[in-house]
Amino acid sequence: MKLEELDKRLLALRTAAREVRDPTAADETLEYLLHLLETREIRSILEIGAAEGLTSCALLSASQARLTAIELDSGRAKRAREHFEEFGFTSRVVLHEGDAGEILRLLKEEYDLIFLYGT
Ligand SMILES: C[S@@+](CC[C@H](N)C(=O)[O-])C[C@H]1O[C@@H](n2cnc3c(N)ncnc32)[C@H](O)[C@@H]1O
Repeated sequence: MKLEELDKRLLALRTAAREVRDPTAADETLEYLLHLLETREIRSILEIGAAEGLTSCALLSASQARLTAIELDSGRAKRAREHFEEFGFTSRVVLHEGDAGEILRLLKEEYDLIFLYGT
């Protein structure tokens, strides 16, 4: 899937998220991630610092993978939950709210793709 094929509402949310302090992943980054999904067999994804879940939603849109997301900020985690529900991904997502430094120690799964984008 190409970036421009993503849901229009998701693309609009991405544009708005560029204005905030910790923006969502740049188009080039997301395009690369979408390329990985097209060319590799990726069944499980971990996003560390998922913010409002916009990159997670894009990756879920472009694949059938399951995704684990970690987000420290409770307001952003809440928005991420809302976005997962809005786009119909709740059954494929586990969102951990808290410090990745602590949560990562508790995760036992292996992941085909791990994405961390921070400032
Ligand atoms: C640049 S934003 C991430 C953008 C997101 N990956 C995307 O593409 O939409 C960085 C996020 O990491 C979160 N964060 C920072 N430190 C963290 C930590 N120790 N554990 C979990 N999340 C953290 C911040 O709250 C922020 O939402």
